[in-house]
Amino acid sequence: MKDTSPQTIYLSDYTAFGWTIAEMHLTFRLSPSATRVLSRIRFEPNPDAPQQPFFLHGEELKPIRAAIDGTEITPEYSAQGLTCAVPDGAFTWEAEVEIAPAENTALEGLYMSNGMYCTQCEAEGFRKITFYPDRPDVMATFTVRIEGNEPVKLSNGNPTASGDGFAEWHDPWPKPAYLFALVAGDLVNYPGSFTTMSGKEVELNIWVRPGDEGKCAWGMESLIASMAWDEKVYGREYDLDIFNIVAVDDFNMGAMENKGLNVFNSSAVLASPETSTDANFERIEAIIAHEYFHNWTGNRITCRDWFQLCLKEGLTVFRDSQFTSDMRSPEVKRIGDVIDLRARQFPEDQGPLSHPVRPESFQEINNFYTATVYEKGAEVIGMLKRLVGDDAYAKALDLYFERHDGQACTIEDWLAVFQDTTGRDLTQFKRWYAQSGTPHLSVSESFENGTYTLDFTQSTPPTPGQPDKLPQVLPIAVGLLNPNGDEIVPTTVLEMTEATQSFRFEGLSARPVPSILRGFSAPVVLDRDTPPEEKRFLLAHDTDAFNRWEASRDLGRACLSAMVTQGSAPDTAWLDALERVIRDEALDPAFRAQMLALPTQAEMAQQLHAQGITPDPDALYAASEALREAMAQRWSGWLADLRATCAVDAPYDPGAAQSGKRALGGALLSLLTRLDGGAAAQAQYDAADNMTLQLGALGCLVQAGADTAALASFAKQWQGDRLVMDKWFALQVAAIAPDSAVARAEALTSHPDFDWKNPNRFRAVFGALAMNHAGFHTKDGSGYGLLADWLIKLDEKNPQTTARMCSVFQTWKRYDAGRRAQMQTQLERIAARPGLSRDVTEMVTRLLS
Ligand code: BES
Ligand code: ZN
Repeated sequence: MKDTSPQTIYLSDYTAFGWTIAEMHLTFRLSPSATRVLSRIRFEPNPDAPQQPFFLHGEELKPIRAAIDGTEITPEYSAQGLTCAVPDGAFTWEAEVEIAPAENTALEGLYMSNGMYCTQCEAEGFRKITFYPDRPDVMATFTVRIEGNEPVKLSNGNPTASGDGFAEWHDPWPKPAYLFALVAGDLVNYPGSFTTMSGKEVELNIWVRPGDEGKCAWGMESLIASMAWDEKVYGREYDLDIFNIVAVDDFNMGAMENKGLNVFNSSAVLASPETSTDANFERIEAIIAHEYFHNWTGNRITCRDWFQLCLKEGLTVFRDSQFTSDMRSPEVKRIGDVIDLRARQFPEDQGPLSHPVRPESFQEINNFYTATVYEKGAEVIGMLKRLVGDDAYAKALDLYFERHDGQACTIEDWLAVFQDTTGRDLTQFKRWYAQSGTPHLSVSESFENGTYTLDFTQSTPPTPGQPDKLPQVLPIAVGLLNPNGDEIVPTTVLEMTEATQSFRFEGLSARPVPSILRGFSAPVVLDRDTPPEEKRFLLAHDTDAFNRWEASRDLGRACLSAMVTQGSAPDTAWLDALERVIRDEALDPAFRAQMLALPTQAEMAQQLHAQGITPDPDALYAASEALREAMAQRWSGWLADLRATCAVDAPYDPGAAQSGKRALGGALLSLLTRLDGGAAAQAQYDAADNMTLQLGALGCLVQAGADTAALASFAKQWQGDRLVMDKWFALQVAAIAPDSAVARAEALTSHPDFDWKNPNRFRAVFGALAMNHAGFHTKDGSGYGLLADWLIKLDEKNPQTTARMCSVFQTWKRYDAGRRAQMQTQLERIAARPGLSRDVTEMVTRLLS
């Protein structure tokens, strides 16, 4: 039975499960439409839990048999699970159920992808495999036997036995059911090995479909780098004899950290220079690291309940950011993270879906794997580290691992290790976990008798369920420059705790120029009336790379805003200041490429809305185009020469040095295309020997409207490669002129290769449509209507991916009455569908509230 009942779960209702489990025995008899799952579990009463009826989760299972201590019983079944009478003391539970992996299109529980069996159990998918207390605070060791004729049969832990038609695995580390995994199929491995710091040799494998072996080298390199990094930086060693990664084509998310058997969306692990862009390589490196780092932050120490999700995800995102910073450039990584935070987390926190980093209630936990839990959750850890310092952070983490290894923990446990390490009272800091919304920080300054004063005010607008906000702890990193550009006060962290607070710098000979919120030291909106010449000064002189970038971004936002609201011409003073940075060959090309990117139209819509102006998507598109055109014209004298300096004259390498050059070269090519009608892009396309250059050139050609032949030849060349074809689907919808975007997306849905049940392919088309800001927000509402049609269709097959895609409507209240009404109509149409999933019901209800 399918459970679609919307029921709200509260953090405050937490109670421990009434029994503990030492060991879970599982046998799978694999068959596509009738897999048998046999379980044997020894339950012992949990002395720390309140009295409660015995309840096991179970959904969409066909019960075959149930027994207690060897005696057959008849439990009472519901859509959520079963109850039955149980003995007072310890007892042995046995069950046999039947499930149909081939019919599982939700990709949760045991399902099939291209003939291969695979599982996804986080957050609550294990209950679709067998009856079990499917909650993260019930931890057990798992012994698994897989019976089937598939040549490769994998599960968690270490292999213990195998033979004709069976394989057995044992995982010695107690774990919650959400970390269980099983994979079986016709797979080949790309092998590797790693010797841990204590000298233990670990066998590594990346398992793929035959034919994909050539796309595993980078994943393996990234895995080995991650293992070494976690030892070096956190002192954390791997703890099994074997570590397996499997690539699957049908996967709702990016990847999953199942103990010893990580399962990856093939887009998040497979790479080759010919088929993957630099951005793909960087993302793969980060995701491999992320899932590997979960082995300690998530698996060895897990979450007590799903409200504590940020305990593992926020921390692990923070750790993978540190890793990427170390592997590449910390400045470039920080700027990229802030772009991402503002593009995904700010709209969430400033709209109807706003929720705290640690939510207090949910209906469907899958809807809370959000930018707030992940990215703001990581920001909170970054602030904590800044406040206590690097040494105390390292000590606190050591204590965390020592104190909580093997436990299912809470945010209170996490904060306690910091309190105990530093003696600091973190009561107020904890508001970062409980209070939703983005704080606004405003600042004014004065200079008198050698004393410079910064007066700060913070306030957070109301968010759903939270009308009144309290002041938060804000670490504000500040540096001061003197008027000739020298730094006179290096980065200093001001700790703001009050609603309004002043900080003084004494003994200065002249009024300094402040560089405030360096490195984006707190996830806030900074309101400051900075004169443009001061921003240009910071753009030229700030020693903090983030604030240099921010100064330019601010000027870019102001320029676009003036173009849209006042019909102003592009700000040439800004463009000239920017030119000096772009052409400064002493600076990292990756940083210069970031400087060259304009604020996105969605970002501009957010900015205008914050200023009380209703954004007009068509006007924003026109202004962006006009500004790019002005850049191309103004810089026409040197664009081609500078692009020539970006040529890479060595075998392809996805590392920071080469990819930075290609990023800058690509940004320059896009401007050049406006001058030469696509000649340089066509030449780059024809000569490209890697996907970064090929796809970059194709994007320019599509933007220039000269795309038909190139798109056709690209499809012909890559029709056999699903991951490359995803790019083909996405690129043309994202890069095409807005007035054609909806028609193009719709046409692509009739393409024979539009396999809409595959989440990557669905997202390629509709994620790209949502990214084409003016295209999605076409005035006639056709973009909203098309997406709603397909969301309704996909919900019947895959609620999780559908619900995630609903968030593209989260900014709907920002727009003009006409667009607002059309989005509301579509959301209401979705909401009214009979049989709508719990996932999507919750999302549209919150969106409409
Ligand atoms: N634990 C998650 C995967 C997951 C998410 C499972 C939601 C079930 C529901 C995994 O560790 C994760 O966070 N993956 C991210 C990528 C990561 C680099 C942030 C993902 O899949 O997008
Ligand atoms: Zn994660």
